Amino acid sequence: MSKNVLILPGDGIGPEIVAQARRVLELVNAQDNLGLELTEALVGGAAIDADGVPLPQATLDAANAADAILLGAVGGPEWDTNPDFQIRPEKGLLGIRSNLGLFGNLRPAILYPQLAHASTLKPEVVSGLDILIVRELTGGIYFGQPRGVREKEGGIREGYNTYVYDENEIRRIGRVAFEAARARDKRLCSVDKANVLEVTVLWREIMEELSKEYPDVELSHMYVDNAAMQLVRAPKQFDVMVTGNMFGDILSDAAAMLTGSIGMLPSASLDVNGKGMYEPCHGSAPDIAGQNLANPLATIMSAGMMLRYSLNEGATADRIEAAVSAVLDQNLRTGDIWSEGMQKVSTSEMGDAVIAALQA
Ligand code: NAD
Ligand code: IPM
Ligand code: MN
Repeated sequence: MSKNVLILPGDGIGPEIVAQARRVLELVNAQDNLGLELTEALVGGAAIDADGVPLPQATLDAANAADAILLGAVGGPEWDTNPDFQIRPEKGLLGIRSNLGLFGNLRPAILYPQLAHASTLKPEVVSGLDILIVRELTGGIYFGQPRGVREKEGGIREGYNTYVYDENEIRRIGRVAFEAARARDKRLCSVDKANVLEVTVLWREIMEELSKEYPDVELSHMYVDNAAMQLVRAPKQFDVMVTGNMFGDILSDAAAMLTGSIGMLPSASLDVNGKGMYEPCHGSAPDIAGQNLANPLATIMSAGMMLRYSLNEGATADRIEAAVSAVLDQNLRTGDIWSEGMQKVSTSEMGDAVIAALQA
């Protein structure tokens, strides 16, 4: 039975990095007889330009029908000044996440040993790093109502958003995190701001309540400001971290740098049944778009996560990860992970090298 994979290249470097991941998927599809059918659709700025909206109905229908989705990145300065905030590329991505109920965002920050010197942190601080950030993705301040910009007395404008989680949303993401911790080193750190924000007082309470169901997992709590500091000071103290939508967005970019570059961090966004969308954690990198400079490895590894989590093809995912490791062994580096003595390669040359490693 064939499996439908929807590919959403998006904007900026999105099409460049996705093209390399697509080549990889096409190759392993043939090599391992996976029966994947790959189709593409528009999202983000590309969809605004073609259809006037960031998430056309045809794309949403295709996403609903697909077995799994691979996304590049959306956004760019050309759409940032659109006065209608609903017609922004990012709304396309957020729309897929919320319409498909992709609440569970897994962002694994793993340092390939070959990149210990690519990180801006000292090698001894990051070597052996393997942490998982579990980010709630369809709630919190990103989606809370009311929101907007309004005028108050005296004609003063004020912007406002609502940070809200109900206990079921917290429990749902908590379970994902406890299960993940159970399958790893059994340590879970819940990150909140319970010294200031009531919503995270409830968050902490629910995590405590859940921990009774997971006596084998050691639960700790940390305020988000300290967590940001600890991630840079001594990141290896963490195994799994669980947090809300906005804190998770910020902490995962920080964690990305521990792996050498944001171009190395893949992600999975899963619904209650394990259906998912897979994407690199980085954005559309307008500063290097269209120049064949971007690192495609986070996207290629996201395709690997897709095979593992949504398509039940773990052995092929293992092969992709081994191929990434092999190209790093060959000292090939895109600019973001380049250091003295390494060979600098382009986006497509990095793709070529992964393909060659998969064929070796
Ligand atoms: P960004 O992640 O796009 O870029 C930040 C920096 O990292 C830039 O210097 C960029 O060149 C570099 N970088 C990112 N990915 C890279 C890669 N694969 N290889 C090498 N270098 C890479 O973040 P930003 O500049 O804040 O945002 C740019 C646009 O992307 C905005 O429109 C933003 O909304 C959007 N964005 C989209 C997503 C997504 O689609 N998931 C995520 C983050 C940001
Ligand atoms: C991410 C991005 C998105 C987010 C934006 C583009 C909506 O930063 O996937 O990390 O904030 O979730
Ligand atoms: Mn982000």
